[in-house]
Amino acid sequence: MATTSDYFPDYPDEYHQSFQTIMNYGLRFRELRYKEDSKKIVAKLQLKSYNEVHVLSIGSGNGSVDLHFINALMDKYITIHYTVIEPVSGPLDEFKRLIESREDKWNRVNFSFHVQGITEYLKEGGTADKCDPREK
Ligand SMILES: C[S@@+](CC[C@H](N)C(=O)[O-])C[C@H]1O[C@@H](n2cnc3c(N)ncnc32)[C@H](O)[C@@H]1O
Repeated sequence: MATTSDYFPDYPDEYHQSFQTIMNYGLRFRELRYKEDSKKIVAKLQLKSYNEVHVLSIGSGNGSVDLHFINALMDKYITIHYTVIEPVSGPLDEFKRLIESREDKWNRVNFSFHVQGITEYLKEGGTADKCDPREK
């Protein structure tokens, strides 16, 4: 019988299972909106360079939201550095399979994966700011 998870770090797999159930029962509809929103958000980005962009994706899950942003970024930037922070390996493996299936399309994206939470990532020296090359 399914149990409820009220403390994420203790039940990461159950959390993802539950999240996918919610997605399957209607939340996937949100992705139609993300497709349009990602284009609008990326169009508003005013970085110094159109050559490259650095992205930090915190809690990507299986990348079903990220994919819309990556597509939108591909239309605007030449090179995309895409750092993914996701503590649960199952959804991250799904994200990697998604990337493999789009290898030809996303050939200008340099992915970097971190199977950890954002706190651990930052403690180990990962950065969450200064992603814009202007700031370096
Ligand atoms: C509601 S899900 C959203 C997944 C995905 N972004 C989406 O919208 O489909 C939240 C995600 O955050 C991840 N997460 C939970 N705690 C985290 C932390 N401390 N650092 C980074 N990611 C975390 C979970 O594993 C989960 O994949």
